[in-house]
Amino acid sequence: MKTLTGIFLDTGNLQEIRTYHALGVIRGVTTNPTILVKDGVLGGWEGIEERCKQIARMVEPLPVSVEVTTNDSDEMREQARRFHGWAANINVKIPIHGPEGETDNLRLIHELETQEDIRINVTAMMSAQQGLLAAMAGATYVSLFAGRVNNMGYDARQELRRLRQLLDACGSPARIIAASTREALNIIEWFEAGADIVTVVPQFIETMLVHPYSKETVRQFLEDGRTLQREGAPDVTMTGAH
Ligand code: E4P
Repeated sequence: MKTLTGIFLDTGNLQEIRTYHALGVIRGVTTNPTILVKDGVLGGWEGIEERCKQIARMVEPLPVSVEVTTNDSDEMREQARRFHGWAANINVKIPIHGPEGETDNLRLIHELETQEDIRINVTAMMSAQQGLLAAMAGATYVSLFAGRVNNMGYDARQELRRLRQLLDACGSPARIIAASTREALNIIEWFEAGADIVTVVPQFIETMLVHPYSKETVRQFLEDGRTLQREGAPDVTMTGAH
């Protein structure tokens, strides 16, 4: 059992990253082409490079995942080298296989990790067996899209537990990322199931943090604090927890 790493923020929005990084609660950032489009990255490669470098600088030395935008092996290799050159804390996301099940990606992942010392986050995985192969190929991070697994009617926690056991049994140093959170509860559940890292969209950090009863409790403390500070204050009403 490895030490839990924590939350990777799943966004390309600079303001969100600044906010949650400043709270000290994130341990990395993940992006993908869909996220970067949604978060308004424009200007082709210049725009991508600028945004990814900004994110990397903002959270340094925490890791930032940037995904390849092609299915061609040579272009993927070239993009991986390029992303790696942008910042030391950028790692490269490569899907487990191509859109038609092409298997070249695993060879590339193996070569980039073992021959070029580039950290790879293998993405778009739905099963423990895919995760095992990605780890065997030498990937630093193996991302199981747990929310999408749940969407298909399976319980992603079973796959996470299996993957955890398999990687522990073979002494793999790969870090398990549980991705695609769909509700706040996923985060704790997936850590409990063995994930090292869970990717979290910013709104769920807010959901984890803010509790209605904590709000009420703090309101009471503040109210009594004001009473306490007034000269000749009467007894403080102790209506809540002490
Ligand atoms: C993780 O690496 C992905 O960027 C992300 O979690 C995918 O989330 P989605 O399934 O909501 O697109």
